[in-house]
Formats: sequence, structure tokens, C-alpha cells
Amino acid sequence: MAMAELSTPKTTTSSFLNSSSRFSLSSKLHLSNNFRHLLLPPFPTTPNSKISCSVSQNSQAPVAVQDNGLAKTKKECYGVFCLTYDLKAEEETKSWKKMINIAVSGAAGMISNHLLFKLASGSVFGPDQPIALKLLGSERSIQALEGVAMELEDSLFPLLREVDIGTDPYEVFQDVEWALLIGAKPRGPGMERAALLDINGQIFAEQGKALNAVASPNVKVLVVGNPCNTNALICMKNAPNIPAKNFHALTRLDENRAKCQLALKAGVFYDKVSNMTIWGNHSTTQVPDFLNARINGLPVKEVITDHKWLEEGFTESVQKRGGLLIQKWGRSSAASTAVSIVDAIKSLVTPTPEGDWFSTGVYTNGNPYGIAEDLVFSMPCRSKGDGDYQLVKEVEFDDYLRKRIAKSEAELLAEKKCVAHLTGEGIAYCDLGPVDTMLPGEV
Ligand code: LMR
Repeated sequence: MAMAELSTPKTTTSSFLNSSSRFSLSSKLHLSNNFRHLLLPPFPTTPNSKISCSVSQNSQAPVAVQDNGLAKTKKECYGVFCLTYDLKAEEETKSWKKMINIAVSGAAGMISNHLLFKLASGSVFGPDQPIALKLLGSERSIQALEGVAMELEDSLFPLLREVDIGTDPYEVFQDVEWALLIGAKPRGPGMERAALLDINGQIFAEQGKALNAVASPNVKVLVVGNPCNTNALICMKNAPNIPAKNFHALTRLDENRAKCQLALKAGVFYDKVSNMTIWGNHSTTQVPDFLNARINGLPVKEVITDHKWLEEGFTESVQKRGGLLIQKWGRSSAASTAVSIVDAIKSLVTPTPEGDWFSTGVYTNGNPYGIAEDLVFSMPCRSKGDGDYQLVKEVEFDDYLRKRIAKSEAELLAEKKCVAHLTGEGIAYCDLGPVDTMLPGEV
């Protein structure tokens, strides 16, 4: 048993990069004038003055703001994205929607490298939705962030109208409507699970505070950095002004993996699998629900009659898919994670197909399934396409499903105790079993 008593959070928070460069660090970006000139077009300067780009939506010309060192640099706009154009002045952009601001943390990492280009292409929010990308990185990843911004420039995406890079969440999260929180520290060799929860928890506590202070009040927050359910809970608790139901933990990758395994077994293409719920934690206790899922509209148990495989082989293959992938690739899933982030967002911004649903880790308060309140737990949801969701009521339970859900629930309750110092619930006490508190990638 791993047991640890944890103290109150430190005032400074740092994290490090894993192979997929997941990150966050709270210190501010200080760029020398020389470095700034590498980033920005060369506006005239006077001694002791700093030049930054102020990018206002739909304005015609770039605006150089001289702050003379007094005002804080508002944004670290990048290169060509410091030039904005009046979208209303051009025929083909006139009918576009109002620009939205999307923050991505861990922006120099592998997952982001797949995700950002999908966001910028319009394949997530639609062909008439201009976007601004706010990229959060660490000081040590700042060069890489510039590289990302350069590739975004060179891709000439018509819908990408602004890119800002920075290391301070209070600046990067300003007015964002979406926050995709990918950066987190991976568990290193010999690191206690409790320590991982604490280190990442501090990152998400700080980012929650920053979102609370500067983001759009209805910002939607999707936590990807592991352990994502508990990180999402911590983030939410530190952002009391943002509706609790706006916080999500990514379990869509697990849903996609489950659909693929069922399709393979049934000998059908994976678009024939629907109503797939992942219950619980994004860990090896997660429960891929084959009782309620359907293949070609029929209950899975009618199509796949090998029920022992469903309970054992199928369930375990989904729970441990991330680990198997790491064995093959030598690093965590990145492309499929990015695809599942896209799927998760699209499920919220487009109406759910009639009769179907999707899985996402959301706040349990008021849930109709009897799951403990005050957790972030993956459950079945539907959306009208307005960014919001409703929990699905018409699901069945049997003893097997209830027992498995209870195990994942117990795990999340234990994780929650480990981070009580970060959720404002007093002194943390961490008592985690060594086996059932693994991330999919730790198998
Ligand atoms: C995955 O499910 O692929 C990842 O969450 C694995 C990991 O631990 O990074």
C-alpha cells in the first residue's frame, strides 16, 4: 500500500516533459528584446520600451502597443498572426461566425502536435468558425512552441486568425471559450502514485485558478493530462465561478478503443457499434459497458455470445490498451488521443445522433445512477450541440456492471482523499492500493 500525507500546495508549480512533451509551469515569460524581435515583426522601438502586438478581432491592421515597461504584455502573438484582417470586409469571410479562443496546454507535445492542425483546419468547429489558438508551454519548451507556431503559419489555414504563445496561464487563458489541458507530468520510475497525484494536482489547481480569473465564464474545460479524472476535479474545485458541469476528463479514447475491439470480435466495421459507455476512471478500473452497447442496433450480448470474453478479454483489452501501445511505440498514444479529443469536442458541438450517446468524464452531482457525488466520473451523455450535455437515463445495470462500477468509484474516492489539500477539503491522506490505481499506460 502506498500511503502518504500531503501538505498544502507550494506557491510555485513546475512540471516537466515526457516523451510527448506534456507540460505546465507557472512562471512568467520574460523575453529579451532580441528574442522578442525574433517573434514579432520589427516595429520601431525606443529605449526602455517594449513592443507587443495587440490583436483585436476583425480589426484591419496590426496594432503596435508601446507599454514603456508599465503595462503587462497582453499577448505573445506570433509572427503572421500579429496581423489581423477585417473578416467582415471580405466576401468569403463575411458570413463566418465570431472568432473563438481555444487554449491548449502542453502545446509543444506530441498530442498537441496532432491536435492543433486539426483544430486549425476547421474539421473540429466547422468551416465557418475562425479560431484563435492560445498555446501554453514551459520556459524550456518555448523554442519548440515557436516551432509549432511556425508550422501553423506555414500551413496557411484560412480559419486560423490568431496564435499566441506563453508560459503564464493567467495570460494564455484570457477570454478562452475552450481549454484543452493536455500538459501533465508522467509517472517516472519509482514515483509513488500519491506523488504523481500531488504534482499534477498542483498544476491543475493553478490552471483552475487561472481559468476562474481570466477565462470566459462559460469556458468548456477538457482535461487530458493524467490522472485526468482527479485532475479535472481539482481544476473544477479551483474554479468556483465556472459551472461544474463544464469540466470534462477525456475518456473518449477508451470509448473508441472499446468500439474497435467489439467491431473486431463481431466482424463488422466499427461504425456499426453504438451506445458505448465507459464508466468511471481513465485507469485500469474503467468499465467498458457491453451490457448497453449495441452492434448494428442489437445488444452486444446477442451478437457476441462469448460472454466470458466480454467480461474478461474485452474488458481487459480496453483497460490496458494504452499500456500495450506504449510497449509497441515506446511512448504514449498521441495521434489517437488527439483524434479522441476532436471526437469529444464534436460530441458537444453537434447534436448526438438519435438514440446514441457518448462517454465523457463529468461531475457526478445529481447523477441518476447512484454513483457517489462530487467525483469526475465517465458516464453516458447526449448533447443538443450547444456545448452542453445531459446524462442518459435509460441504461440497464446488472450485478457485474454494478460491481465493476463500484470498483472504479472506490478508486476515484481514494484518489480524491489524496488531493484534499488541493480541493479545499483539508489535509490529504493517501492510501492507495498498488494494483488498481494504474493509468492505462502503466500496465
Ligand atoms: C492512454 O490511455 O493511452 C494514456 O492515458 C496512457 C498513459 O498513461 O499515458
